[in-house]
Amino acid sequence: MRQKWTAAELPDLTGSTFIVTGATAGLGEVTTRELARAGARVVMAVRDEAKASRVVHGIGQTRGVIEVRQLDLSRLASVRRFAQDWTGPVDVLINNAGISLMPLQYTEDGFELQMATNYFGTFALTQALLPHLTDRVVSLSSQLHRTSRLRIDDLNYATHRYSPAAAYADSKLAVVLFANELQRRLSNAGSGVRSITAHPGIARTALVAHDPSIFGRVNSLGPLLNDVEHGALPTLFAATQDVPGGSYVGPDGLGGIKGFPVIGRASAAARDAGGAKVLWEETASLVSGVMPAA
Ligand SMILES: NC(=O)c1ccc[n+]([C@@H]2O[C@H](COP(=O)([O-])OP(=O)(O)OC[C@H]3O[C@@H](n4cnc5c(N)ncnc54)[C@H](OP(=O)(O)O)[C@@H]3O)[C@@H](O)[C@H]2O)c1
Repeated sequence: MRQKWTAAELPDLTGSTFIVTGATAGLGEVTTRELARAGARVVMAVRDEAKASRVVHGIGQTRGVIEVRQLDLSRLASVRRFAQDWTGPVDVLINNAGISLMPLQYTEDGFELQMATNYFGTFALTQALLPHLTDRVVSLSSQLHRTSRLRIDDLNYATHRYSPAAAYADSKLAVVLFANELQRRLSNAGSGVRSITAHPGIARTALVAHDPSIFGRVNSLGPLLNDVEHGALPTLFAATQDVPGGSYVGPDGLGGIKGFPVIGRASAAARDAGGAKVLWEETASLVSGVMPAA
């Protein structure tokens, strides 16, 4: 039987630079810790710098270096500032930050908050950092992308009904479509940079902690789910192993809910190249309306 991959098999990452968005908690925190332990320079891109400093303190001494930089993915002005301030190469961008199950609210850019944070900010950040990227982009999706009925003509729920769960699923389908379209565009341009999607299965983190009833239900499933350490393995695997661009990496257990990382298959909708192209063009138009190219 094939050996189960764990963070103990991370290569020596000395000399590599990783950016991890949403590194103050959950999967992003574990991802940061393990990459730094393997010797990497890890830049935590976070909305709360004080919280990040406490995380760095908690991680303690590593072989690598951890830095903290401010980034609020729900605000394109913040995304632009982060990217403009970046100098030098970045080996791997890990688009980890995310929120879920939020009531309907709009950001200062006029985007629905979950789409803004999970998708529009991720799209804009990746685009802005591409000139610096040397190895790959890993973007976090969810098995819930399979339930999405994404309306590309109404990405901000102006004309169709909003539901917090559906909007989360929509944002995560949009992430896979984006990651796959990015891979096609990189390949067509002759770039060696890869774009990979990862998902943690279901991992016990604070993602739904703001909704006590759902949080309680998730936690009651305890051992059936991934703990946060296993939840971070698909991200670490996708970020450091020889995974082809366009892959969808997640746990190997039943339904992709828990286990050790393997390359799996996203939904048919997520693999639809035509839909991905239309989504890309619509997103680029919405984002550039707010954040013109520098
Ligand atoms: N846990 C799961 O079962 C599961 C399943 C499928 C996919 N995922 C995905 O995995 C990723 C990580 O989630 P998690 O479970 O680790 O959740 P988490 O523990 O709630 O961590 C989410 C992280 O995202 C950050 N964040 C939220 N909004 C942000 C913004 N506007 N700008 C920058 N950072 C922001 C949070 O920062 P603060 O500390 O400031 O709040 C936090 O560091 C997400 O993309 C999520 O959708 C998780």
